[in-house]
Amino acid sequence: MRLFLAAEPDTLALGAALARGLRPGMVIFLCGDLGAGKTTLARGVLRALGLTERVKSPTFSLVELYTISSLYLYHFDFYRFKHSDEWADAGFRDYFNPESVCLVEWPEKAGGQLPVPDVKIEMKVDGNGRSVTISAETEAGRNCLTRLQDRSSLAPG
Ligand SMILES: Nc1ncnc2c1ncn2[C@@H]1O[C@H](COP(=O)(O)OP(=O)(O)O)[C@@H](O)[C@H]1O
Ligand SMILES: [Mg+2]
Repeated sequence: MRLFLAAEPDTLALGAALARGLRPGMVIFLCGDLGAGKTTLARGVLRALGLTERVKSPTFSLVELYTISSLYLYHFDFYRFKHSDEWADAGFRDYFNPESVCLVEWPEKAGGQLPVPDVKIEMKVDGNGRSVTISAETEAGRNCLTRLQDRSSLAPG
């Protein structure tokens, strides 16, 4: 599934659409260079789930936990990892469990150690906007995308 997001509100809207498809246990990879819009997308998810406080980028903390809408949602950013072992050393393995939703920025920095994602979202600067490719890699991911596609206001790209 490909989309073009012309401006920041479109990225937030995609996050809101994605939020409706999330279920406990899901892992979402957010890929793309610095400035591609990964944190903005995560912010859209969190706001749609009812978070009113400011969404911090976990670039320095590595992870932020939110408990909202009866979900445990972990928002990771592995940008600062220099070695993929740091992920295991940090003790993050237990965070990927059937009760929690994990949104992961820079999953490639954890090497091949992360679980297979249910949904992978690749974002790229495209003119003044962003182009996005969304793929489902599991059954849960395919169900999530089906729920997401029910939202017709997202412009194809
Ligand atoms: N669809 C979009 N079109 C234009 N700018 C966007 C879009 N989505 C997000 N942005 C902007 O891109 C910048 C970087 O976003 P951010 O989410 O911090 O990126 P990342 O987490 O991938 O480094 C922010 O200023 C944000 O407002
Ligand atoms: Mg970010």
